[in-house]
Amino acid sequence: MPELVIKGATVVDAAGRGGTPTDVAIDAGHIAEVGPNLDGDRVLDASGCIVSPGFVDLHSHLRQPGKEEAETIETGARAAARGGYTAIVAMPNTTPAMDCAAVVTEVLELGRSAACEVLASAAITVDRAGEQLSPMGELTDLGVRMFTDDGTGVQDDALMRRAMEYAVGLGVTLAQHCEVSALSAGTCMHEGEVSARLGLPGQPAEAEELMVARDIALARLTGGRIHLQHLSTAGSVELVRAAKARGVAVTAEATTHHFTLTDRCVEGYDPVYKVHPPLRTDADVAAVRTGLADGTIDAIATDHAPHTIEDKERPFDAAPPGMLGLETALALALTELGESIDLVDLLALLSWRPAAIAGVEDRHGRPVAPGEPANLCVFDPSAIWTVDPDDTASRSRNNPYAGRTLTGKVRHTLWSGIPTVIDGVATR
Ligand code: DOR
Repeated sequence: MPELVIKGATVVDAAGRGGTPTDVAIDAGHIAEVGPNLDGDRVLDASGCIVSPGFVDLHSHLRQPGKEEAETIETGARAAARGGYTAIVAMPNTTPAMDCAAVVTEVLELGRSAACEVLASAAITVDRAGEQLSPMGELTDLGVRMFTDDGTGVQDDALMRRAMEYAVGLGVTLAQHCEVSALSAGTCMHEGEVSARLGLPGQPAEAEELMVARDIALARLTGGRIHLQHLSTAGSVELVRAAKARGVAVTAEATTHHFTLTDRCVEGYDPVYKVHPPLRTDADVAAVRTGLADGTIDAIATDHAPHTIEDKERPFDAAPPGMLGLETALALALTELGESIDLVDLLALLSWRPAAIAGVEDRHGRPVAPGEPANLCVFDPSAIWTVDPDDTASRSRNNPYAGRTLTGKVRHTLWSGIPTVIDGVATR
């Protein structure tokens, strides 16, 4: 008898959508059988649900070490599990930064008891200061597959070129927070009609687009691969589309907030809407959605960025940027994109395409089929719920969707065959 059976769900994976609801039996961390009328020691009801590969987030801020009052690896991973994630990439802008073996090892060790697989990214430059490369080879040996200075972009063209050359040799992914600091320093929102009206200093779309264009050029020059983080402007989407058409090895992600919120949200000066890159215009949101639909953008990422209530209560220009995202991503994707993007393609954006970018396609985003690792998300695509910032596994509450009614909710998540969420409740 298998340890566990998921009963009555429709399978959706990279091969497409299964016909009729079925059962999925799980034993010793793997899928044992998929078919009707299976029995197991334990049964998880999944009627009306989809069972898909678990999601992979390329962009989670877990705040440990250094800012444990906002989040820990344990609480962030638990929030991820509640969102249907089975793997998340921890961003390196911790204190101290994840730029050396000691800190990366600490993060990986803390991740071992977490509710999903915690993958460590590492900084491209020492202390993310943009001056000197981190020991990329040593960090690759520890298992790091993605390097980024996220929170800031690498400004120095020659240093970025060198990082790309090393990354080619090491076979790792370089990811970039595209923002030219000469154009963004001192700003707190998108530069445009709204910032002019509110009297807040804005950063132009070009602050992002210049670095997107430069990194595409450097990828061409070096034969390297670049992953562009949280694309937010129509111009960036167009640059990536053109680069892909020319065969440059570029991938890109968009966050849930950049396809659902605009700079008009800032009109009440509420810092919950402050984020980097900033919320942009309707036209930018439309372009990001088109990019997600036509394959220009490869993945939906969360940029889950917890901040304490005290920090987020500061005035708009002084508050830290960032918003929570792990527990709302699936529902936002289904609610906002479900009519324009087929479910299989939406799940590709959340699961198997980011799994490939993170280098974990051997165990995440796999087919729901016998012999595969049981890293699975079971969700009800028609459950309607209202976002309550207090209903969270995160330590923080900076959720910009408070009060919003969304469709689609995670019911169960399994990581390595073990339930991490049952009926929406985290179990570890
Ligand atoms: O809004 C953001 N918050 N953007 C970033 O790049 C960093 C992040 C954070 O760490 O809070």
